[in-house]
Amino acid sequence: MSNPSTALTDTRLLLGVSGGIAAYKSAELVRQARAAGAQVRVVMTAAAEHFVGAATFQALSGQPVRSSLWDPAAEAAMGHIELARWASQVLVAPASADLLARYAQGMGNDLLTTVLLATAAPVALAPAMNQQMWAHPATSANVARLRERGVAIWGPGVGDQACGESGAGRMLEASELVEALIAAKVGDQLRGLRIVVSAGPTFEDLDPVRFIGNRSSGRMGFAIAEQAALMGAEVVLVAGPTSLPTPARVERVNVRSAEQMLRAVLDQIDRADVYVGAAAVADYRPVAPRPSKIKKAAEVMELKLVRNPDILATLADRARRPFLVGFAAETDDVLHYARGKLEAKRLDLIAANRVGLPGCGFDSADNELTLLWPDGELALPRASKAELARRLLLHVSERIRSRQG
Ligand code: PMT
Repeated sequence: MSNPSTALTDTRLLLGVSGGIAAYKSAELVRQARAAGAQVRVVMTAAAEHFVGAATFQALSGQPVRSSLWDPAAEAAMGHIELARWASQVLVAPASADLLARYAQGMGNDLLTTVLLATAAPVALAPAMNQQMWAHPATSANVARLRERGVAIWGPGVGDQACGESGAGRMLEASELVEALIAAKVGDQLRGLRIVVSAGPTFEDLDPVRFIGNRSSGRMGFAIAEQAALMGAEVVLVAGPTSLPTPARVERVNVRSAEQMLRAVLDQIDRADVYVGAAAVADYRPVAPRPSKIKKAAEVMELKLVRNPDILATLADRARRPFLVGFAAETDDVLHYARGKLEAKRLDLIAANRVGLPGCGFDSADNELTLLWPDGELALPRASKAELARRLLLHVSERIRSRQG
């Protein structure tokens, strides 16, 4: 299991900063990447210097900042080709629409684009721009072209923007980018494995208007799918109703009810090495959903519910079963009930989490997990769901590799 303060040791990060208001977040990114053990050198575009001064990056990286191809002193110290060779990972954050366009065209009209062309290191871009600019077909075409060339696109996130609009285009936070750098470094951990992840709630219809649902947002399962893909797995995400965007390189199957989720999982399971059940699957559904809206009449209304099939238990009964990971969402006596579920459902691993408290569990950015398996357990303290997903997957990968001998 990697230690957060050494997770990027041996990483020589060349951070490109292009012009955008999000450039201020890149200063924090330098700090966090160094705290995780990386060496960092910064190359800024001329536009970036309008947003953050080179002195900030110089102080945080402990290295001179480069911005021009035509600085003889800087070229003498480390030429742009040497800089491109020095990097073990390149990340451009923020990557503006202009930078994406120039890189997609193969232009080398400033130091950053020249280094991007000259490097053999993996390149990741963290786009940041107004949501209309991100949605523009020209930007989409540039992003598609870069992806085809193997460039990783991290983000953008969705939310309020500096321009006052809201939508996709926010640069990921520094902590998310550091997590992506760590995941990229361990990019081979899950190569060759096919992982099916379920995420989100299920909705059990009562009538065309109402349903029984739960508070799951899908964030935990989506984080697992995203990290598994970054770690090299082939990933199928069976998602209950949620508006979360599909993570890069993840195949998504949308479902609504528990029965649909079971069918979608069974369609995928023959080829799967691992199943992670992060979805909050409804245990019961209405016996007979009504075809038209139920009218208000009696003072007390009784609902008749029937047990849903248990997806994990169905998979555990199969002759060829993948490595089975369940989740246990509990409000009290979390570890006791989780171990009960591990045994009752005959799982290889269960991730126990407390729900019903603010700041972890349902619909939060962070969580706390305890991993339990038949002869052991491991507490993973509070961290982002992405970080926990990565640790959970590293544990799964170690267990699978040790089984294979
Ligand atoms: O989605 P988020 O907002 O990010 O919240 C994350 C989470 C709290 C939903 C997640 O971390 C979590 O705990 N997911 C499992 C929730 C749940 O249904 O727990 P459970 O204890 O009721 O079920 C135990 C396990 O059996 C789960 O892996 C569940 O997917 C599985 N199950 C349950 C019922 C059923 N019919 N079939 C199943 O396979």
